[in-house]
Amino acid sequence: MNDMERTLSIIKPDATRRNLTGKINALIESSGLRIIAQRRIQLTRTQAEQFYSVHKERAFFGELCDFMISGTVVVQALEGDNAVAKYREIMGATNPANADAGTIRKEFAESIEANSVHGSDSQENAATEIAFFFSGLDLVG
Ligand code: CMP
Repeated sequence: MNDMERTLSIIKPDATRRNLTGKINALIESSGLRIIAQRRIQLTRTQAEQFYSVHKERAFFGELCDFMISGTVVVQALEGDNAVAKYREIMGATNPANADAGTIRKEFAESIEANSVHGSDSQENAATEIAFFFSGLDLVG
């Protein structure tokens, strides 16, 4: 199935701190996904809490938000065939201990929290998450 899709990626503070943006972008681009929008930002606590509001009842919510504002992040819109599933495949499992060899999280993640990247988990959430950070004019192909 050839479905052109978009997904939202975040390169997290553990990765930006270690200067890994370029290495992660190389893995994204060599998978065939295109980075159609990208911005390096410092999230506020309110923004982090809003972005991760689906997890607000989880025990790790507070620590997750602390971590996401502990340094800069790179927010990106990715485009390609089956982009949501493809990006989840190249990110690897949420917990790097379970991630397959060659995935971003196996290569770079430090822990389940400091796991280097976020990717949308469905097309519906991808649309919401891309709109959280980008306007239509930012998505330039
Ligand atoms: P992400 O894909 O950004 O979505 C939610 C994040 O919560 C997840 O990646 C993890 O980095 C983080 N997290 C921290 N602790 C846990 C946990 N116990 N289970 C799942 N996710 C966790």
